[in-house]
Amino acid sequence: KMVEMETGFNGGGTHLLVLPYPSQGHINPMLQFAKRLFSKGVDVSLVTTVFLTKSMVAQTGPVTLELISDGDDDGKGRVGNIEAYLDRFKKIGSQSLRDLIEKLGNSGRPVDCLVYDSFLPWALDVARECGIPGGSFFTQSCAVETIYYHFYAGRLTVPVPFQTVSLAGLPELQVSELPSFLSKPDYLPAIREFVIEQFLNIEKADWVFCNTVQQLESEELNWLKTTMPVKPVGPTIPSWYVDQRVEDDQDYGVSLWKKDRATCKEWLDTKDDGSVVYVSFGSVASLGAAKMEEIASALQESDKYFLWVVRESEENNLPENFAEETREKGLVVRWCPQLEVLSHKAVGCFVTHCGWNSTLEGLSLGVPMLACPQWTDQPTNAKYIEEVWQVGVRPKVDDTGIVSREELKNSIKEIMEGERGWVMKKNALKWRKLIRESLEEGGSSDKNVEEFVAALRG
Ligand code: UDX
Repeated sequence: KMVEMETGFNGGGTHLLVLPYPSQGHINPMLQFAKRLFSKGVDVSLVTTVFLTKSMVAQTGPVTLELISDGDDDGKGRVGNIEAYLDRFKKIGSQSLRDLIEKLGNSGRPVDCLVYDSFLPWALDVARECGIPGGSFFTQSCAVETIYYHFYAGRLTVPVPFQTVSLAGLPELQVSELPSFLSKPDYLPAIREFVIEQFLNIEKADWVFCNTVQQLESEELNWLKTTMPVKPVGPTIPSWYVDQRVEDDQDYGVSLWKKDRATCKEWLDTKDDGSVVYVSFGSVASLGAAKMEEIASALQESDKYFLWVVRESEENNLPENFAEETREKGLVVRWCPQLEVLSHKAVGCFVTHCGWNSTLEGLSLGVPMLACPQWTDQPTNAKYIEEVWQVGVRPKVDDTGIVSREELKNSIKEIMEGERGWVMKKNALKWRKLIRESLEEGGSSDKNVEEFVAALRG
């Protein structure tokens, strides 16, 4: 356990609170957004929950860390009953957030604005009660938000009565390319409701931010802008990665697991350019033994090096002795500094679950992707990776949801050796350039951040 709190206040200016949903995939983009605002002269505090800080490795730099309770300070409440957890979070979290804003006000650091995860719309009510403005922050893609909004507005019903859906602002989508809470009618209805609630009071938000880039999702953004004042401010990736100025030990700043930094770097440094397959399924997905076995066999049988992140909780699904038996060509770690890995010249292919952060990271760092979506927004991201941005492939999935080792091996080969792989790499570098430009002074995302800062200063 190491929680390092550094205060680096810009000095009495505007003070902003940033509240992400307490999970890795939501903290990363919102902390990075906070850091970007700090770099523009705004004082920022990141709000996270008591339980998370118990296991968190945090180097939030100039962003102060503040705590609230989600009613689950020992971390046991989320297990098994997410619905009850979310209910408790809303009740106890609201009160706790209100108390925090009051406490900061009384201690000479009054809060001027709250930017909250769109998944926590009750935070806007708290901001209103405290008399401060609030901005909603979409941590998922604009395409996914647009699909959810169509569902919220009743233009899409579940179960979907057609094979394909045509919705304004979006390319034609197969039902299986919708977020899993919509494509599978009986799948986690409580979470479906939870994600849809982000629109309940969105029209009352003073700002709506999306972690995307105008050029990546221009039709989606242009359409969503007709219903709410959404501003793209992404990608929320530390700019030194996008600029290829990687320095040691610098990444998002909050990690829920310890990173095997030195091992990964030393190992990658010994490998040729573009020779390594990097495999990661993010912070939540649990694959199960059958899927893991196909991946393990594919990596073992393909003639490429591999670096595979298998979280500790998933290790028992690995084939027995896999790491020992494949030591010559592979490295299995529990968690890694993903940005550093993707920036490394040795990495030539990213086998990903298509979480939105991983997708943006692959795009921003120019790495072609092998898209293996598991649930939530990932099937939609995978479609965009293959068809819209053309920076990756989606291997065939069988009826039981498994991608066979043959499919995986062929896709790896296609990406790392084939003509199509070369085109994907070229496209990835093109997107990387556009993304970099959006973050530069006067670029589309930078302009939106500047506008927000100017509005905060009044
Ligand atoms: C979740 C959902 O799964 C995702 O679909 C949604 O868009 C956001 O919330 P997660 O599964 O964690 O996110 O995936 P992703 O969005 O890709 O975020 C994972 C983050 O962890 C990335 O920023 C990645 O760089 C980081 N990471 C991952 C590491 O730092 N080390 C690792 O070993 C693996």
